Amino acid sequence: MNVDTSKMNGGHTYESNYIEENTKDNRISLIFTLKEEVGALAKVLRIFEERGVSLTHIESRPSRLNKDEYQFFINLDKSTVALDEIVKCLRQDIGATVHELSRDKKKDAVPWFPRTIQELDKFANQILSYGAELDADHPGFTDPVYRARRKEFADIAFNYKHGQPIPRVTYSEEEKKTWGTVFKELKSLYPTHACYEHNHVFPLLEKYCGYNENNIPQLEDISNFLQTCTGFRLRPVAGLLSSRDFLAGLAFRVFHSTQYIRHWSKPMYTPEPDVCHELLGHAPLFADPSFAQFSQEIGLASLGAPDEYIEMLATVYWFTAEFGLCKQDDKIKAYGAGLLSSFGELQYCLTDKPDLKTFEPEKTARQKYPITEFQPVYFIAESFEDAKEKVRKFAATIPRPFSVRYNPYTQSIEVLDNVQQLKNLADCINSEIGILCCALRKLE
Ligand SMILES: [Fe+2]
Repeated sequence: MNVDTSKMNGGHTYESNYIEENTKDNRISLIFTLKEEVGALAKVLRIFEERGVSLTHIESRPSRLNKDEYQFFINLDKSTVALDEIVKCLRQDIGATVHELSRDKKKDAVPWFPRTIQELDKFANQILSYGAELDADHPGFTDPVYRARRKEFADIAFNYKHGQPIPRVTYSEEEKKTWGTVFKELKSLYPTHACYEHNHVFPLLEKYCGYNENNIPQLEDISNFLQTCTGFRLRPVAGLLSSRDFLAGLAFRVFHSTQYIRHWSKPMYTPEPDVCHELLGHAPLFADPSFAQFSQEIGLASLGAPDEYIEMLATVYWFTAEFGLCKQDDKIKAYGAGLLSSFGELQYCLTDKPDLKTFEPEKTARQKYPITEFQPVYFIAESFEDAKEKVRKFAATIPRPFSVRYNPYTQSIEVLDNVQQLKNLADCINSEIGILCCALRKLE
């Protein structure tokens, strides 16, 4: 088979991977390869004939790869095509190799998304800006030592592949001093300002992952710890990812994390995410099962979603995982990483200055926000469970011709758009319910 099987998941294939559709004249083009033998072409033609498909064009040539094979290029009349069935017959009955021509070019085509956790490696090549490139107003812009250091971090991330340990970094005394300043200040606020979950996990990170004011923890240690808690893992990122790619990582319980630290000259300010933001703000919450599930829901909702919905989901993410507040014991607490990693905004968000609204994904997704100043508006979630349910309902409104499910055993996305997939899912649920019933009986 010459088809990229990594794009075939759980029996589902996007046939457009090997079909080029010409929407102007309503035709579909297909290329396939056959072994040279008497009657092979006749068998192929019969497949089309039996299904009443008219071929509008056909041409052949000897294969350049194998002299015993022939390649065929054909055009079909789109309106008459039972495409899935024909491709299946070409493969199974004739043993044809179907070649990939291009991705779907249809207007309403489903955008590509990773199906396996290994495919997240592809994102390293499509970052929007490399981590070593700094804006003119960045505190480290005129510091050649800092810029060279940033390049080292960007290169680590760029060369990282799924499954490898995240390279350990020896941080300089200057970098550790910057971390220590941020760590000390923020830690003093957590007991009164952070949500219960953050305060519950933080001491565990101190115990198991080397969190303290004199040490910058290693991504690898935190990633391993998170995997034992919720299956979430970290992977280093070389620069800015698109919202689509970043959210897709969450669908696999993968969080793209920076590894460098802000410039020493301004320890309480960073114009971009850095290791203080990721490790103090984001990492603790990924150890909480409800928050992990909530984050994954946003990620799953993003897979194959149209661009305008990606923007809405990114906004939902902004007002929850980055700047979310939640109710706990009649008090309001912070759980967003942008708050938990900012000494100033963590205090400000719980004053009476900002406007507080109830988290409703449909409304939250349309809220405009500034990125360089404290937020004028925050959204309050009743709980992570409640937020998760709301996101799930919102996700159901996204126009996608399929549902998706993450399979933790294969670490892949199952596209639930055919009977076999639904049957497999029903079998899994059946088995889990069996375990539940058995456990209930034993408790009785
Ligand atoms: Fe963040």
